[in-house]
This record gives sequence, structure tokens and C-alpha cells, in this order.
Amino acid sequence: MPGRVEGKIACITGAANGLGRCMALTVAREGAIVVATDLQEDDGASLVSEIEAAGGRAIFLRHDVTCEGDWIAVVGAIRTRFGRLDVLVNNAGIGLPNGPATDIDLADWKRLMAVNVDGLFLGVKHALPLMRESGGGSIINVSSIAGIKASANASAYCASKGAVRLFTKSVALECAALKDGVRVNSLHPGIVETAIWDTLIGTGPEGSNVRPRGATLAAFTEKAVPLGRPGRAEEVAAGVLWLASDESSYVTGTELVIDGARSIA
Ligand SMILES: NC(=O)c1ccc[n+]([C@@H]2O[C@H](COP(=O)([O-])OP(=O)(O)OC[C@H]3O[C@@H](n4cnc5c(N)ncnc54)[C@H](O)[C@@H]3O)[C@@H](O)[C@H]2O)c1
Repeated sequence: MPGRVEGKIACITGAANGLGRCMALTVAREGAIVVATDLQEDDGASLVSEIEAAGGRAIFLRHDVTCEGDWIAVVGAIRTRFGRLDVLVNNAGIGLPNGPATDIDLADWKRLMAVNVDGLFLGVKHALPLMRESGGGSIINVSSIAGIKASANASAYCASKGAVRLFTKSVALECAALKDGVRVNSLHPGIVETAIWDTLIGTGPEGSNVRPRGATLAAFTEKAVPLGRPGRAEEVAAGVLWLASDESSYVTGTELVIDGARSIA
């Protein structure tokens, strides 16, 4: 039986670890040919081995999403090798240590915006033309519940993820107006145990998206998330699979929230 994204060419940034890695494994299992990109080459290579060992297809490209030249090279490599692009998951993202806005260094703010916002913009700018030539596709921009619900002491991260949310809707409207067959949606994961939490740890007050220093994610989420636990990467990847597949063919400009009701509590 064909997979749910059989034969689609799917580029996923920040795919070497965390949520991106799980997304890559999930869409590969459902028949996509994965172009995994990341800064971390060893982890990228091990991802390709894992996908191939499970009978899937993938390549890894070293890629800094903040570098326009890297984006041009990645999209060029996809064009040369596959001649098309069906799915782009703009997943690469970073956090900053938690703290008040007055304590944020401008250099740290700019670095965060470069990865979380500029990198995602560059992906859309350079991948969209190839996707349009391919007759359409699905762009999935990874935001966060921090792009919906504000938290004290996480202003830079919230600002970056809020930018992703509305950038996504604007581009979705541009694609819809052109009837180019490209759907553009944002994904808003809640709290999932990955390395990003090593940076986000801080002294967030109760109600913050940022766990208090010293608290485990399990203890933090027991109170902070209505479902009483962190999410699993597989639960987020399931949303990516659906948005990447033709099952979501009437869905564009929307926000897919996968957060155990954290953002409405
Ligand atoms: N884990 C969560 O709870 C959570 C919640 C909401 C949103 N998110 C978002 O999900 C995405 C993935 O986060 P994660 O939790 O898997 O984090 P992670 O730190 O586990 O993985 C991020 C990956 O991105 C890569 N990366 C970082 N900077 C890069 C750059 N400049 N170019 C290319 N790759 C780069 C890293 O090497 C790493 O492999 C991020 O956009 C994050 O903001 C995560």
C-alpha cells in the first residue's frame, strides 16, 4: 500500500535532532524522499542511516538556514537531484535563556531572529519558485504556542514565533491569489522534551511557557498543561505528516496547534 506522502520530495530544516528528526523519520516511513538539512553533520548522517535501515530514502545537506547562499545551494541541489520539491518544513529554530526584555543583548536578539525568522523567510523565498514549478506543494512553518500565547521572560522567542505565524498567513494568501497549488501553514507545538529546553530553562513565573529553573519538564507540565504531561515528538510529527499529505488539501493559512491545550489554559 502506498504511503501517505508516497514519492513526495520533502525538505526539512533542523532535521538532525529533536522534532525535525522525528518529522523526517515519520514522513520517510510514509514514502517521502527526505532532504534533511542541519548544521550538525554527524547527527544528519546518522539520521540518513536510520531512514535507509528502515527501507526509506533520504539525503543530508549541511545547511545554515541564516545563510542565503546555503539556501540557494540547497534548493539548487534539490532541483538537480530530484527536479521538484513538494514539501518544505521550516523547522530549524533556537531559544534564548529566559529573562526580562531589558536584559537581552542585542546580539542575542539578532541571532535568535536570524535563525527563527530570517532563516524561515529565506526558505520560503528560495523554495517557493521550485515548488510552483512542481505544480504546488506544502510549506509548514514551525512556530510554537509561544507564537500564540505571550509569556513573561520569553519576549524574544515569543516575538520570533509570532512573526512566523503572521508571515505564514501572508504568504498563504499570496499563493492562494496566484492559484499556484502551494499551501502554507504554521505548526504550533506545545512543550516537548528536546535539547531546546536546555536553553529555555529560566525563572519563568507560573503561567509562563518557560519551566522554572530546576524543574523537570514532567513536573512543570503536570501543572502547566491541561493534559498533564509533555507532548511527544511523534505527536508533533503526526501533524506535519498530515499537513504534508494531500489529506490536508483544503487547508492553508491555518495554525495547527498540538499542545495538550496549553495555549488556552
Ligand atoms: N521542543 C519544544 O518544546 C518546542 C515547542 C514549540 C516549538 N518548537 C520549535 O520546534 C523547532 C525544533 O525545535 P527542537 O525542540 O527540535 O530543538 P532542537 O534544539 O532539539 O533541534 C533544533 C535543530 O535545529 C538545528 N539548527 C539550529 N540552528 C540552525 C541553523 N542556523 N541552521 C540549520 N539548523 C539549525 C540544530 O542543529 C538542531 O538539530 C524549533 O523551531 C522550535 O522553536 C519546539
